[in-house]
Amino acid sequence: MQHTLVLVKPDGVARGLTGRILARIEAKGYVIEDLRLVHPERALLEEHYAEHQGKPFFEPLVEFMLSGPSVAVRLSGDRVIEGFRSLAGTTDPTTAAPGTIRGDLGRDWGLPVQQNLVHGSDSEESSARELALWFG
Ligand code: CMP
Repeated sequence: MQHTLVLVKPDGVARGLTGRILARIEAKGYVIEDLRLVHPERALLEEHYAEHQGKPFFEPLVEFMLSGPSVAVRLSGDRVIEGFRSLAGTTDPTTAAPGTIRGDLGRDWGLPVQQNLVHGSDSEESSARELALWFG
């Protein structure tokens, strides 16, 4: 059994998609073990996205994540780390496959790619680090 951190990002919360996104996660059989609405501080986001520091999209990404609350979810399930990322779809909603959260619900209106509705940890190491950050 694995755990992962899922975030419904500010665009997903603002668009009222939290319930639909969580329903898809639950339908897949993953278990929501903890859930909270978080207004993150810059320090939390800079740590969360530490691997992207120095990249051109880092600052716009942090600013976007500061633009509104996110819903943080501690999720468990068999191979949930890889499985949730598959359910989320590829990073850019414009080309994410139909049937995925980003492919079905992500907007294709020339929005910056950081507005891709959800985040999922990419490894066991990341999930442990990120769950500690968002849930303490
Ligand atoms: P995620 O994969 O959850 O975590 C890293 C985030 O960085 C990614 O989602 C996007 O939101 C963002 N991101 C990745 N690549 C780019 C890019 N080229 N331009 C802007 N944002 C990006």
